Amino acid sequence: MKAIESLIAEHQIIDRVAAALGAYAGRLRRGEPVDEADLARFAQWFVDFAECGHHEKEENILLPMLARQGWSWDSGVLPAIRREHRQETYLIDVLHQAGERAMSWHAEDRRHIGAAALALVEFQRSHHRLESVDLFPAVDLRLSEVQQAELERTFDRFDREHAQRRASALSLAAALIERYAPGPPVEPRPETGVLELLNDPTDCECCKAPAEL
Ligand SMILES: [Fe+2]
Ligand SMILES: [Fe+2]
Repeated sequence: MKAIESLIAEHQIIDRVAAALGAYAGRLRRGEPVDEADLARFAQWFVDFAECGHHEKEENILLPMLARQGWSWDSGVLPAIRREHRQETYLIDVLHQAGERAMSWHAEDRRHIGAAALALVEFQRSHHRLESVDLFPAVDLRLSEVQQAELERTFDRFDREHAQRRASALSLAAALIERYAPGPPVEPRPETGVLELLNDPTDCECCKAPAEL
């Protein structure tokens, strides 16, 4: 279950940054002063860590592996999760666009942006609930120990291929949490040593980073 534990650890980091975004949104809606530039930082963080990191691992590694074991790709949990990932992309895009207009926000803009940010926070909660209840337990039920070990190695390989982006995102997460919702420090996932290549290398579809050779 180590592969799934790593996804759960990432959920915890995403939850922490979502809580910071929620606090930021609350200040915006109350008309309190905020650093407008932080909105673009939050939006970029969700792209870099949640979308291009975490969701890529779920969509391009875990879900296809479960489908190869006979879980339906077109009905039930797997398409529901893929649909929610598209919904999250839309919510992040709304924040991104608002962040680009940061210097020209009016009072009404601030209320709209606060509401959009809270929509993303609430979405994250519900999405993580769906995966915790309907997706992660299936890994133990449907994948053998050998397959779970393969899953773990493939996740590790993905993280190594995107190590720089991941490190930058973890560092930005710590800064945003400290600024808006301080608590215990964010711990990056420990490295797990030398990894072997299991599949043909392909460039990352999300950030276009080249695969390791
Ligand atoms: Fe997800
Ligand atoms: Fe997830």
